[in-house]
Amino acid sequence: MTGGARAWVVSLAATVASAYALDATATAAGVAVVASGVLGDLGPRWALAVLAGSYAVWAWGLRSNLRANQALLTATGTSTNVLSKAAHDLARRHRTGPRAARVAAAAGYTATEVAKEVPYYAGAFGAAALTDPVTATGAMLFLAGANLGAAGYEYGLARLTRAFLRRRRYASFDTDWDPAAYLNGYYRTVEPDEVATIAFLVDALRGAERDRPVLFFGVGPTLHHVFAAAETASELHLGDYLPGNLAQIRRWLDRDPRAHDWRPFVRYTLRCEGDAEPTDEEVTAREELTRKKITDLVEVDAARPRPLPSRYATVVSAYCADSATADRATWARFMRHIGGLVEPGGLFVTAALRRCRGYTVAGRSFPSADVDEHDLRAVLRPDFAPPAIEVRQVPQQAAHGYGGIVLCHARRRTDPAAD
Ligand SMILES: C[S@@+](CC[C@H](N)C(=O)[O-])C[C@H]1O[C@@H](n2cnc3c(N)ncnc32)[C@H](O)[C@@H]1O
Repeated sequence: MTGGARAWVVSLAATVASAYALDATATAAGVAVVASGVLGDLGPRWALAVLAGSYAVWAWGLRSNLRANQALLTATGTSTNVLSKAAHDLARRHRTGPRAARVAAAAGYTATEVAKEVPYYAGAFGAAALTDPVTATGAMLFLAGANLGAAGYEYGLARLTRAFLRRRRYASFDTDWDPAAYLNGYYRTVEPDEVATIAFLVDALRGAERDRPVLFFGVGPTLHHVFAAAETASELHLGDYLPGNLAQIRRWLDRDPRAHDWRPFVRYTLRCEGDAEPTDEEVTAREELTRKKITDLVEVDAARPRPLPSRYATVVSAYCADSATADRATWARFMRHIGGLVEPGGLFVTAALRRCRGYTVAGRSFPSADVDEHDLRAVLRPDFAPPAIEVRQVPQQAAHGYGGIVLCHARRRTDPAAD
């Protein structure tokens, strides 16, 4: 079974189990409130007030669960509500940006939970209308009890989902990613993986077509790879999934004093290009050139088959698809979508953490697809000429969760059969 099919089967099973469990909990709580008689002396007005209050508690429980469900969807592609998953996946396919998918997932979930209320209303007020012992007040108290039971259930499910995600060690881009913590944790100095990556990138970009726009896909809050393309590109287009990441780049473009300092990376890039001792002026000049060439900051989602309307002569996507999911099938799909943005004959430069299951940012572990050079070769084979691949061991990065990286550049085939 593919990873995608498995996610649907798991979501469907979780939905069925969750529906029964919610039903049992809510009914038991409703019956308990009525049978205990604790609110038996309330008049209809107070019963109505209690019912309204119980909805507020239910909304609070549901809110916790919607957040946990979103984290689950982002990290694993599964959900405890299959309609929520369907809405989420559909939104990600057709709309740009994580917000649309988040809203769709929440709407799908909420619609199902509200629909589940209908039988309770029909049962409670039907009984009140048709039988003498059940009064309208009794029906309202039953519903209030059921709401409180449902609230407890939603909250409990949220805790369970979070505990599951913690056990699986996955943090979520939608809810847990902290761009500033990422920059502080990885980009204070040029660490060994970036020493290798930037040198590889500079070399690979010597084969890029000059004076054409270059796309950086999944750039995060970073610019350290972008400086290498500033001279070759006519324009630099930077895409990432999270608006918060793009906001960090915007700060740097706007010369905001809070912006990250990329000068050590610019200096190292210039060294890789052959300037043995770049001066401060040369570093500043490359920063300025890069600022001038960045003409587009755009939200992208690798889950979309065509993440952007145009294709590019050069696409750079480093530590994006592999660092966005723990599921290999999803990684392969993301790679096909990103690779699809390279025009025929164009250059694709990519990098991945090697055989890594998770990398840490501010003490939280984000998913990684556990891929290696063989996986990369296989995923590129249908659309790209045989790639140039280099594997680098970076044991110094072990504290971050990985000990190797795979660096790759490949040219997209021009023959229409392969396209
Ligand atoms: C580990 S960061 C790498 C950022 C940058 N390329 C670097 O080398 O530091 C992974 C990036 O993938 C992005 N990402 C996660 N899911 C994505 C998706 N579905 N589509 C595009 N980018 C995604 C995240 O927002 C994050 O910026």
